[in-house]
Amino acid sequence: ARIVVLVSGSGSNLQALLDATADPAYGARVVAVGADRDGIAGLDRAAAAGVPTFVARLKDHPSRDEWDASLTERVAEHRPDLVVSAGFLKLVGPSFLAAFGDRYLNTHNTLLPAFPGIHGPRDALAYGVKVTGATLFFVDAGMDTGPIVAQVAVPVHEDDDVDTLTERIKEAERQQLVEQVGRLVREGWTITGRKVTVP
Ligand code: GRF
Repeated sequence: ARIVVLVSGSGSNLQALLDATADPAYGARVVAVGADRDGIAGLDRAAAAGVPTFVARLKDHPSRDEWDASLTERVAEHRPDLVVSAGFLKLVGPSFLAAFGDRYLNTHNTLLPAFPGIHGPRDALAYGVKVTGATLFFVDAGMDTGPIVAQVAVPVHEDDDVDTLTERIKEAERQQLVEQVGRLVREGWTITGRKVTVP
């Protein structure tokens, strides 16, 4: 299977996928990595692995819709079976969802539907929850609202700060991402309403 990964930052989830897909038995390879900005470690990780990259910056486009259409085109060029947002910090629009809506995965660093958005671990810590985690889901038009594939629970420790909690979540998140993407590409999936079925 062909996977395109979208990143906006450090790319540690991308790295986990690059490492996993190095084994042919995994059943998939990362054929391209896209970003919405330059100069991020995620792009360097892709280059180091010999994977082609592209950048689609919102500010280079006259409107958000045109950015969305150009992102869609850049991704489509690589004919992905699955697109994975691994810390991609932009909400995609109608063109992208029309093209990839049933095969665009995102990983979020809380147990959705609690604490959506970019400050999940901070918000979870501030709320005082004792358990949080990571959620893998198919993206729909909302923010962090799509049908859930898998979740992993992570305990909050008494002495956690945002950084220690974020790191503990990310470890579990990477492992879940690699396991579940492998399962999806090997077994296939169907989405019916909010239900994701892996045969
Ligand atoms: C992940 O924890 C993801 O849930 C959040 O941003 C982080 C991305 O980290 N949205 P990285 O770029 O994969 O290291």
